[in-house]
Amino acid sequence: MDPNKRPDDMVRITTPELAQAFIGEQVEALRAQIGDKNVLLALSGGVDSSVVAALLIRAVGRQLICVHVNHGLMRKGESEQVIDVFRNQMDANLVYVDATDRFLDLLAGVAEPERKRKIIGAEFIRVFEEEARKVAGEVDFLAQGTIYPDILESDGVKAHHNVGGLPEDLTFELVEPVKLLFKDEVRVVGRALGLPESMVERQPFPGPGLGVRCLGAITRDRLEALREADAILREEFAEAGLAGKVWQYFVVVPDMRATGVRDGKRAYEWPAIIRAVNTVDAMTATVPELDWALMKRITERILVEVPGICRVAMDLTPKPIGTIEWE
Ligand code: XMP
Repeated sequence: MDPNKRPDDMVRITTPELAQAFIGEQVEALRAQIGDKNVLLALSGGVDSSVVAALLIRAVGRQLICVHVNHGLMRKGESEQVIDVFRNQMDANLVYVDATDRFLDLLAGVAEPERKRKIIGAEFIRVFEEEARKVAGEVDFLAQGTIYPDILESDGVKAHHNVGGLPEDLTFELVEPVKLLFKDEVRVVGRALGLPESMVERQPFPGPGLGVRCLGAITRDRLEALREADAILREEFAEAGLAGKVWQYFVVVPDMRATGVRDGKRAYEWPAIIRAVNTVDAMTATVPELDWALMKRITERILVEVPGICRVAMDLTPKPIGTIEWE
């Protein structure tokens, strides 16, 4: 039997009861596989890595070493939530690495999106590798949040490799407990493991994070304005019951200024652009019709609460022609 093929008769996990049954089986299988050895996991705080972490904590407790790398491009409160949920609530063995300065120093002056992506991706692997080397002698396994669509998209290739891009001399045996699950099933399992709703229902967030939403060359002050404006958008959407209903929504801040008037004086500040899309597979996307009063409230809050933003615009572009991200 191909371990990377979902059996035809595998029941779709749609209820808490089915999730508990899955968790029970996985906990047993993980204990059998891992024994008294240690496991390493890069914990981004996304749905998949969070569910894998919670499963492994249930199975082997502090034999799991979670590494959370904060690249300084996380959304507001995200790293804090990872620490709170995993270290404080689940008593996880969590290594928190604040690499903000490393990433932002490397990105200074770099405007080209694909170069930004490469720098962020390569530095992420470097930081994780440094942490992996510190524990290499004590760790035999590397856990990954591979899910079934990843396997389908990569013809099973991805699941056989250390996808993290770690060098050859750092080889671990892979542990991939949710590799046969679809995203909706991972969420059901996450809920059954007691993860907070805001983590389980988290919208997709690109690896380079806010780095590709702070358009052009990233500066710390503009990145901070983006983070605050984005947090207001997320808070208001959640309050309006749109979290989990609109597929992806975020703010981008371009590297340009527009004129405004603040306290009777001319202001020359950045615009914030709101992007909200619905999609099934991210290949095409439409812009949902949103409540005008809600959008006006978000606009007012951003203008009043976020220093450096004097204008709010809404992006109505479907994909195609516009991609979901601006960069
Ligand atoms: P686009 O902009 O190509 O985005 O329409 C489609 C989906 O992919 C996400 N995205 C990324 N995810 N690394 C990622 O992990 C990236 O570099 C990246 N770029 C785009 C985007 O957020 C959307 O969900």
